[in-house]
Amino acid sequence: MGKIEKILKELTVEHTHLLKKIKEFQERLENDFSDELIDEILKFIDEELEEHARKEEEDLVDAIEEADANFDSGALIFGHQTLVDGIEDFKTVVEEYRKGKSSQKDVVKYADRVFTLIKDHFIEEEHFLFPDILKLDLERFE
Ligand SMILES: [Fe+2]
Ligand SMILES: [Fe+2]
Repeated sequence: MGKIEKILKELTVEHTHLLKKIKEFQERLENDFSDELIDEILKFIDEELEEHARKEEEDLVDAIEEADANFDSGALIFGHQTLVDGIEDFKTVVEEYRKGKSSQKDVVKYADRVFTLIKDHFIEEEHFLFPDILKLDLERFE
């Protein structure tokens, strides 16, 4: 297995793991809301999701460049900007909520928005971006 193929496999496994956590968070947002849940979601975003994005923006991009594939790696990073914006909005609402300036309903709404953005993003990567990258990896040996 090539280096790129190996990283893509790892990233896809991570997607499954992250989506499982998101599903749990969404169930708790609906049925078991608490301040601790908000902290857990923020930690999930800042640590696990952040590390996943770093793997794509650094490790995967490095592997692509190393393979000398003529791939526009900007697309990988560009796809993350929408997520970054959604996360920023969520964090703003959490800050307001902690000051009593926004409601639980708003926190849930913005958390759900972030989770939907993440899900859509993973689908885009697995269905379009990753297969395109893999094709490049394989074409080099033709
Ligand atoms: Fe990504
Ligand atoms: Fe990803």
